[in-house]
Amino acid sequence: MIVVFGSTGTVGRQVVTGLVAAGRRVRAITRDPARASFDAAVEVVRADITEPGSVLAAVEGADAVYMATAPDALAHERTVADAVRRTGTGRVVKLSSVAALPPVLDSYGAAHAAGERAFAESGAGWTVLRSAGFMSNVLQWGWSIQSAGAVYQPYGMVPRALIAPEDVAAAAVVCLTTHGHDGKTYQLTGPEALTGPEQTERVAAAIGRPLRFVDADPEQARQGMIGAGMPEDLTDGLLASMADRDPRRGGTPLPTVRELTGRPPTRFETWLAEHVGELAPAETPAG
Ligand SMILES: NC(=O)c1ccc[n+]([C@@H]2O[C@H](COP(=O)([O-])OP(=O)(O)OC[C@H]3O[C@@H](n4cnc5c(N)ncnc54)[C@H](OP(=O)(O)O)[C@@H]3O)[C@@H](O)[C@H]2O)c1
Repeated sequence: MIVVFGSTGTVGRQVVTGLVAAGRRVRAITRDPARASFDAAVEVVRADITEPGSVLAAVEGADAVYMATAPDALAHERTVADAVRRTGTGRVVKLSSVAALPPVLDSYGAAHAAGERAFAESGAGWTVLRSAGFMSNVLQWGWSIQSAGAVYQPYGMVPRALIAPEDVAAAAVVCLTTHGHDGKTYQLTGPEALTGPEQTERVAAAIGRPLRFVDADPEQARQGMIGAGMPEDLTDGLLASMADRDPRRGGTPLPTVRELTGRPPTRFETWLAEHVGELAPAETPAG
């Protein structure tokens, strides 16, 4: 049985689907089972990684664990690693970030690196997936696209090889269900590096209306993130990782997705075509 933390998340819900399709028994973890909706075959269990007792019960009986949570919960991944050690769980796949690539430069990368270490010390066979930024992050642009026909983003001139969450999930399913991945750290990217303006051009083509790219003031973005409830330290870490120009951290397309899954990584245009309704709902007249 495979326990999926972050099972309602962007990647995690697709990990659940992929494991069910592969014929695996899945226990999906969420803090709020009433809000979650899964295939009937999936066992849904409530746990919060800030509550060690709930985590231990959630991991009991697992053959493997998939680990992803929100960035502000990263400090509690050690609780899951402790439960993995106490229950003798055989395998863990942790979703991490390219920001954890040494030398770690910011608090966001450091939080992921600490989570990676905790699982490496858990006694389980561990695999780390250090992902580049997700294509789905552009869904956050929906509001400004609708209201201002514009995309506001700091550090937009740094090219990023954005990855489809579907590809991250597919890689995770491979690492959870096949052998040869213990002790491995894989860096996952999409197929091409695009700047903010280039991403905006493609979004504009997908929704069929012109868009302006605005290289936003980082301080304004910082205030917006803190205003939206993100802890200050994490906000600074995330902004620092966005500012990082080192192409090794998600700026250079890598062959890893193809090597793991046997399929080429999804192109941004292809992903946009499948998600255009989420960016520009049909009831809003285009143009
Ligand atoms: N976005 C990117 O570009 C990017 C790139 C690389 C790596 N990452 C990493 O990917 C991870 C997020 O994965 P995702 O995007 O698939 O998830 P997501 O959409 O951000 O959703 C967060 C998931 O974490 C669960 N969660 C949050 N706090 C929890 C807690 N205290 N206890 C138990 N579960 C908790 C939520 O479950 P419930 O709400 O149902 O409880 C939800 O399933 C983060 O670690 C992030 O740093 C993101």
